[in-house]
Amino acid sequence: MKITICLGTGGVGKTSVSAATALSLARSGTRALVLTTDPSLRLKTALGLKEGLTEQRVPNVEGDLWAALLDVNETLDEAVRMNARRGTEEQILTHDVYRMIASSLSGMNELMALERISQLMSHGFQNIVVDTAPSRHVLDVLDKPLLFADLSASRRVKLVSRTYKFVEAMGLMNIGRNALEVYARAEEILGGKLVKQILEFYSLFYPVAEAYADRARKTGELLRDPSVTEFRIVTTPHKAVRDADFFTAELRKRNFRANMICINRAWLRPLDDAPREGLAKDIAGWYENVSLSHKAAIAKVKATFAGSGSKICILEELARDVDGADALRNLETQLQSC
Ligand SMILES: Nc1ncnc2c1ncn2[C@@H]1O[C@H](COP(=O)(O)OP(=O)(O)OP(=O)(O)O)[C@@H](O)[C@H]1O
Ligand SMILES: [Mg+2]
Repeated sequence: MKITICLGTGGVGKTSVSAATALSLARSGTRALVLTTDPSLRLKTALGLKEGLTEQRVPNVEGDLWAALLDVNETLDEAVRMNARRGTEEQILTHDVYRMIASSLSGMNELMALERISQLMSHGFQNIVVDTAPSRHVLDVLDKPLLFADLSASRRVKLVSRTYKFVEAMGLMNIGRNALEVYARAEEILGGKLVKQILEFYSLFYPVAEAYADRARKTGELLRDPSVTEFRIVTTPHKAVRDADFFTAELRKRNFRANMICINRAWLRPLDDAPREGLAKDIAGWYENVSLSHKAAIAKVKATFAGSGSKICILEELARDVDGADALRNLETQLQSC
C-alpha cells in the first residue's frame, strides 16, 4: 500500500505532478488512483475525464490508472450509509440538519478528504496519490480530521450525546428549561425547535461521527507510517527555497518528512547558437537570463536541503500545458529519472 500526498502553493503544478506520479505507479504494473481534493477540477482536463463523481479509469494511458474527484456530499452520504444504525440511514440523509451541515460547514472539504482516502482503500485501491487544493491553512487536510477525532473522543461530547439519549429514552424532551442548563441556554440562543432538531439529529448521527473519527485516526496512522506515505512538495524555481522551507517546517511540526521537493517548470534547456538579430536576440537574451536565475535557485535548494533526506527532483517546462496523455507521459518520464 502506498499513499503519496502532493502539497504546494497555488498554480505550481500540484495537479500535474500528482497525475504524473499516479501514472508512474500504474506503468510500474500496479493499479493506481489519483484523488483530487481541488474543487477547481483541473484534473479533469489534465486527464481527459468524463463528468461523474465516482472513480473512473483514465482513458488513453498505459497502465491501470484511475482518477477520483472529491465530492464532499457524496463522501459524507457514503459514510452515513456505511455507519448509521440500521434503519436510520434515510432518516439521517433527509434530515434538515444533515442537509444544512453537509452544505454549509466550512472546511468540510478537508474533513472529507481523509474519509475519501479511506473509502477508496476499502474499494480496493492500494496506491493513492492525493492532489491537494491550495489552502490558506496548509495541511488542514491532515489536521482537521484528527482534531475532529480528538474532539469526538472528548468526555464532554460523549456526555452530550449520552445525556440526550437518556433524556430521549425517558421521554423527557419537554422538561423545563432549568432542568438541563446546557440545553436551556442553547434554546435561548437558537430557539427550541432548532435545538430539538439538532439534538435529535445528533442522536441519529453520532454512530456515523464516531465511525468517522475512528477511521480518521486509522488513516492518520497510515499517514504517519513512512513505509506507506510519502509527501511531495511541488514548487517552481523562484519560489522553491521559500516553499521548501515553509512546507518542510509545517510537515516537521506534525512529525512528517518531505520525501521529495519537486521543482517544476524549470527553464533548463540551452538555446542553439544560431545567430540572432533584433527582437529574436532580445528574447533569446531574456530566456538565458531567466534560465540562469532558475539554475541558481535550483542550486540554492540543493545546497540548503542536501542533508535533509528529501530527494530533489527537477521538472522542465513543457512546450505546452499539461493537458493530455502525451504531456503527462513526458512529466512522468522526467519524474522517473529523478
Ligand atoms: N512542467 C510544466 N510545463 C508546462 N506547463 C505546466 C507544467 N506544469 C504545470 N503546467 C501548467 O501550469 C498550470 C498549473 O498547473 P496545475 O493545475 O497542475 O497546478 P496546481 O498547483 O494544481 O494549480 P492549483 O493550485 O490551481 O490547483 C496548468 O495550466 C498546467 O498545464
Ligand atoms: Mg490543482
